[in-house]
Amino acid sequence: MNLEKIRQDFPALNQMINGKPPIYFDNSCMTLKPIQVIDAMNEYYMKYPACHGRSTHKFAKSVTEKFEEARRKMRAFINADSEKEVLWTRNTTEGLNLIARTLDFKEGDTIITTDIEHNSNLLPWQWVAKNYGAKHIPLESNEDVTFNLERFQETMNKSVKLVSVVHTSNVTGVTIPLKEITKIAHEFGALVAVDAAQSAPHIPLDVKKLDVDFLALSVHKMAGPTGMGVLYGKQHILEEMPQFLVGGETVLDSTYETKEIAQLPDKFEAGLQNYSGAIGAGAAAEYLKKIGLDNIHNHELGLNGYLTKKMEEFEGVNLLGPKDAEKRGGIYTFVVEGVDSHELGMLLDEAANIMMRSGAHCVHSWFNKHNIPASIRASFYLYNTKEEIDVFIEKFRQILDFAR
Ligand code: ALA
Repeated sequence: MNLEKIRQDFPALNQMINGKPPIYFDNSCMTLKPIQVIDAMNEYYMKYPACHGRSTHKFAKSVTEKFEEARRKMRAFINADSEKEVLWTRNTTEGLNLIARTLDFKEGDTIITTDIEHNSNLLPWQWVAKNYGAKHIPLESNEDVTFNLERFQETMNKSVKLVSVVHTSNVTGVTIPLKEITKIAHEFGALVAVDAAQSAPHIPLDVKKLDVDFLALSVHKMAGPTGMGVLYGKQHILEEMPQFLVGGETVLDSTYETKEIAQLPDKFEAGLQNYSGAIGAGAAAEYLKKIGLDNIHNHELGLNGYLTKKMEEFEGVNLLGPKDAEKRGGIYTFVVEGVDSHELGMLLDEAANIMMRSGAHCVHSWFNKHNIPASIRASFYLYNTKEEIDVFIEKFRQILDFAR
């Protein structure tokens, strides 16, 4: 991986703020965008800013071609069987809501999640529980916040309709044993949905090998535009599911009283779509694939190992999740005894443009359960460097010396 060349691709990195470069360690929230993605999106607005599908003129043909090409790229990125299984959404949250609102839940159904879910994979199931009389079980993790496969196996039973789990935690960076989970869930006749918001950008994904029934991801976390996501679903399941949002594009014909529902994927994509966003999503998928998801993952592991070792020098730094950096991908979330996480975040930003996220990272339920008011998180991506970590360590040391 040519780090210098990669960094050149990201305009946001190549600017000075108060005389210093930005050090961007908030990639679990939002990643920066390479010029290849920005150019692909701009091309839509500059050259063929029209509707896809509906019209027969040249602009419409260009956008149709590019929109379909983007879906093919995204299909290849997750290795789905068909473009019909790749639905454009706004984000992971929308994908999971689509499942919650359209699967035929009934009273007595059980939904199992982990106990460290983002609100996006918690609130939809609270809604299902409340509206259908279903039961939600947040499965307790191991002591080191890894997935307890044995406990999962023991908890599974025939009432479980859906196992909906976060693939890689945005708090700990831990990736769960999804293939094994899916196998067990299927033995009990349950469906499996995956929140892949933090895995899709960082590790190779193969929905066929994983054999999951649904997988939701957010494009803004994988070097693509904001407001774009993907919901993968197995074709036969999506075909049986009722529509979610309805309106333009979702029907082939209608009368005042009836409608003829469109085929997949149009059936689930109501209204005029975010064409530039989809084209940018395709470009992002292509960009990451070209660099190689294995290379990206290994680079992040190297950075996390480096940071983890350096952080061992400090007293009173409590890491959330397993100690072993190899188990935490590109994420290091911690609490410093006697130091307010939000204040620490502000001071790091002020000192050297070190951008990190503090708080509960939208996983309030887990933080509440463990009585942790807030934490601060470094999350890496393909463009981060050891030199940036050195600057962080230097500033962190200065802040601690001053605060203690
Ligand atoms: N899921 C995003 C994060 O972890 C918002 O920051």
